[in-house]
Amino acid sequence: MKQALEPTADAAWVLNDDGCDPLRESDRETRFTVSNGFLGARASHAVNRSFRRLVSPNSYVAGLFDTPDTDRPVPERVFAPDWLDVRIGLAGGPLVHHFGQGPSHPLTLDMRRGLALAECRLVEGAAVSVRLGLLRFVSLSRRSLGLQLLHLEVDQGATDITLEASFEGGDHDLISERLETEFGLWRTHHSGKRLAMAAAVALRIDGQDLPPTALAPLKWSWTWRARPGQVVCLERIVTVARSDGPDQDPGAIVRKELSDARRSGWRSVMEQHETAWANRWSCSDVEVEGDAAAQKAIRFAVYHLNSAANPDDPRVSIGARGLTGADYRGHVFWDTEIFLLPFYILTWPEAARSLLMYRFHTLDGARAKAAERGWRGAFYAWESTDTGLEATPEQAVGPDRQIIDILTGAQEQHISADVAYAVWQYWQATGDDEFLVAAGAEILLETGRFWASRAQPEADGLHHIRGVIGPDEYHEAIDDNAFTNVMARWNIRRALEVAAMLGERWPAEWTILCRRLDLDEADLGHWTGVAETMATGLDPDTGLFEQFTGYFDLEDVDLSAYAGRSVPMDVVLGRERTQRSQVIKQADVVALLALLPEEFAGETGATNFRYYEPRCGHGSSLSTAMHGLVAARLGDVEMALDYFHRTAAIDLADTKVAIGGGIHIAAQGGLWLMTVFGFAGLSLRSDGIGLAPHLPASWLSLGFGLQWRGRSLAVRIDQTNQKLDVSLESGQPMIITIYGQPHSLSLDQALVTDIKRPRQSDDRSR
Ligand code: BGC
Repeated sequence: MKQALEPTADAAWVLNDDGCDPLRESDRETRFTVSNGFLGARASHAVNRSFRRLVSPNSYVAGLFDTPDTDRPVPERVFAPDWLDVRIGLAGGPLVHHFGQGPSHPLTLDMRRGLALAECRLVEGAAVSVRLGLLRFVSLSRRSLGLQLLHLEVDQGATDITLEASFEGGDHDLISERLETEFGLWRTHHSGKRLAMAAAVALRIDGQDLPPTALAPLKWSWTWRARPGQVVCLERIVTVARSDGPDQDPGAIVRKELSDARRSGWRSVMEQHETAWANRWSCSDVEVEGDAAAQKAIRFAVYHLNSAANPDDPRVSIGARGLTGADYRGHVFWDTEIFLLPFYILTWPEAARSLLMYRFHTLDGARAKAAERGWRGAFYAWESTDTGLEATPEQAVGPDRQIIDILTGAQEQHISADVAYAVWQYWQATGDDEFLVAAGAEILLETGRFWASRAQPEADGLHHIRGVIGPDEYHEAIDDNAFTNVMARWNIRRALEVAAMLGERWPAEWTILCRRLDLDEADLGHWTGVAETMATGLDPDTGLFEQFTGYFDLEDVDLSAYAGRSVPMDVVLGRERTQRSQVIKQADVVALLALLPEEFAGETGATNFRYYEPRCGHGSSLSTAMHGLVAARLGDVEMALDYFHRTAAIDLADTKVAIGGGIHIAAQGGLWLMTVFGFAGLSLRSDGIGLAPHLPASWLSLGFGLQWRGRSLAVRIDQTNQKLDVSLESGQPMIITIYGQPHSLSLDQALVTDIKRPRQSDDRSR
């Protein structure tokens, strides 16, 4: 077992934390979380927690939502029982490891192997001392499985030791229905979901099995006589299943999974898990030479991105904090489609498809939300759970500690276009026609229809969308938000395109779909008219989009005067003044430029970026990545690099941003976006992909893999030799457009071309 506890030797693959600071413990738990898209286990101490109130030893199961029976109830993901709890004691009481006493509690995240390691020493005065090594993971090859290993060496003491392994907190959010020695079944209070967990636990002393001295439901305990030099190994395999309705039996699933896992043993469980990680890394690793901090940051991002998705469960999506923390109650936002999907689409299409199928399965919720408000089509929930019904809380405590109304659920409507954008991007990059015909087209049509009913014609001959919130949430109830309107127009156009395509290529399916959606030629004609006359706020003289009607007249606050502030700008200025100012919470027109660069003719991309970038207060963790992406595309790589490191710091630096509530998974996705779409200048085109690299001076090289329409590609940008090398590792020949010039690529003919130095012209075509 000791060997399994050895981390990967290469420092670029591991994250270490030697500190033991009670105030930062919750941040460490987040950062070192292991998860697999179904299960998440924060890196809380497993052994003898003596500081329970400071930490949240949370275990999560994707999709395990419940809605409390309160006024204005908000559905939330509930905690699953903590399956990792261990207590070690002497006959007279626990051996306590607490802060301020004895050595610290180093943690290691072995990103290559997808597991977390911990060490600690427990002492009782000078009489007893034991050293512990711990390992945990949740399996990437069988997502229902978790493993815990504990290796204990007695340094000192000849005394009776008791070790107890148990499940804790089962009654925190759940009601237990059945508890047996190796099995537990719980249900949620209101949502009709059930959770089953089973465990096989074994203890060996110097290689000999020791049967438990006492057994209780989900509690095993052993007492033995310790002696110096003794080696004790605990192994615990856990299986977990969730059911969403009465006709599924999660108990049978976990029992079967457990008996399979027990038969194969923890070594084989671990081997399969490590193989699954090796496969994920071979498709998704990003290599940066010359900037060790950037290398660590992007690997950390890719580790958490690979940990967050589950290609096998199309009923769940990724919450704003993945399965790493409780913030945002597990709710799903636009973060998934805009910041995460590109990573999955281009490195793990099966996971991307599953995430989009979640939006397909929640279409009815989106249709109901639109209908309730008198609109047609699909208006997706701004905060979504398992039903697709709107889950945004109506009120919250604002930055100034006042109770404020939350209007995003009603007004942040661009979500429908964001979902459509991801559907289109997925189809473009994978060519998955079966998905398009069975699910994607319906999403595109229903969101297109939403916008066509939402935008209203006015006396100026244009269609307007009034009363919304754009990505910049500092400004509410605004009219004609450029991001919303241009994305809406794009959405309607793609809906029309898919309608034409289905009619031509899949006429039978198209006829059925039209009948089911009650869609006819008159509808399509109306949509065309709306798209053609959508107000966008573009000033043809300056090339600037006005972020929303009246934005240019607001107070222009010089943000450089507030450099070094430790709180967001809406706290500095107060909510009301912020609303009357041009201060932006996060990329808005800049986000539009990131997503639809073709909407910005000639130099107007740069013009808009130069105008809006200094007005942004980056009050959201989603903001810096979008700015970095655009800066890199525009060739300002040093500014982009600064944004890269600021984004990396959100979850990695022990600065003011507390991350106890979970990893900012959108920021992690944003790091990948910035690297691949920004520095490498990737664009998805109808005839293949485009690349237009602009690397920061300190990056000697950048390498990553991509999946494109059934092909695997390896890209390497070598700054030392000023070369771009693209090779096709599998699949049919294809076209790659480099700085606007098409090149052909085939299995036997890699592409090697010169790269341009930063700040030269770039390729913004798509
Ligand atoms: C941001 C949203 C984001 C949400 C969840 C908010 O603070 O403004 O854009 O979707 O957090 O990450």
